[in-house]
Amino acid sequence: MIPAVLPTYNRAPLAFSHGEGSWLVTEDGRRYLDLGAGIAVNALGHAHPALVEVLAAQAARLWHVSNLYRIPEQERLAEMLVERTFADTVFFTNSGTEAAELAIKMARKYWYEKGQPERVEILCFEGAFHGRSTGAIAAAGSEKMVKGFGPLMPGFVHLKFGDHDALRAAIGPRTAAIMVEPVQGEGGIRVLPDACLKGLRDLCDESGALMILDEVQCGMGRTGRLFAHEWSGVAPDIMMVAKGIGGGFPLGAVLATEAAAAGMVAGTHGSTYGGNPLGCAVGAKVVEIVSEDGFLGAVQAKGARFRQGLEALVASHPEVFEAVRGQGLILGLKCRVPNTDVVKAAYAENLLTVPAADNVLRLLPALNIPDADIAEALARLDRAAGRVKADVAA
Ligand SMILES: Cc1ncc(COP(=O)(O)O)c(C=O)c1O
Repeated sequence: MIPAVLPTYNRAPLAFSHGEGSWLVTEDGRRYLDLGAGIAVNALGHAHPALVEVLAAQAARLWHVSNLYRIPEQERLAEMLVERTFADTVFFTNSGTEAAELAIKMARKYWYEKGQPERVEILCFEGAFHGRSTGAIAAAGSEKMVKGFGPLMPGFVHLKFGDHDALRAAIGPRTAAIMVEPVQGEGGIRVLPDACLKGLRDLCDESGALMILDEVQCGMGRTGRLFAHEWSGVAPDIMMVAKGIGGGFPLGAVLATEAAAAGMVAGTHGSTYGGNPLGCAVGAKVVEIVSEDGFLGAVQAKGARFRQGLEALVASHPEVFEAVRGQGLILGLKCRVPNTDVVKAAYAENLLTVPAADNVLRLLPALNIPDADIAEALARLDRAAGRVKADVAA
């Protein structure tokens, strides 16, 4: 019999009753060190007092009003993002997938309004993940995600990650935009080198194509800058954000330059819940905290500390781990054994990790994870690797 919850996930037999910082606690009191953070969502850990306070205060005042009216909390968060980024304007969504949908619509509408409606193609990269809507799976294009769901939305061209010649050849008179994650998350923590991002920007500038960056997973401080592309010194025309920006409250956004957003006039897009007062009040607090002096520097330091420990782990367990990947606190361990075996061994050490494609173990802790918890995580990973080796030997 089908379960009451549609069984689209292979769930671990774990249920948590509450969380504190980097820890999740089961109903019977078992404490798990959380290196998944809801897949990069709980940017400030669980039950951060400032987020709890702002959510409760907003809940007591006003939960929801329609976008038919001005929403001051939404305006404030949009202004905060505009102040801190390349963007001139922001549309709020409830998820990364919805942000992807709008980014695609915005790019196509841009060319339509410019009198070149044939420019509809969006160049995407193998290993990409942009969500699960029909548009987002067509954009990512992987067999695993699209099989059985056709016909797919047309207009996406899929290129090999890092194949510059193929990219150059693919850009043409039908290209509307290039869409890419500065760090592929689901794809296996693959960092796009700064030189590639700069090269992409140059190609966009030469051809007029818009640059869409998907920072749903790697943005909001995760790499140690507010947004990952900042490391390269180039800026996109359109950017998708979600996950960390709400700190656990469902919130996403599309940020864009005035030029890229030119086609999105009244009536061209909307959302019932997007940008509602609850989400935006929490989002503003997350942005405020992540922007505090020293916060992003601390993420960089924690990332470096964690990475150093992971390199040592690779050196001491070469049968289990092959290499460390990532930047800041979006980290991955490329595994030699099936990554799911390591995830299971980590469960046995009360440690939560997340598998990714390319046989990678993903580590996405809260951005404010205490150094002591990093040390504890490394010790547990070390023991988990020992368990995997023992199982292989048995
Ligand atoms: C890079 C990227 N884009 C888009 C999405 C989709 O976001 P959501 O699951 O919030 O719809 C994800 C989710 O994992 C993601 O990692």
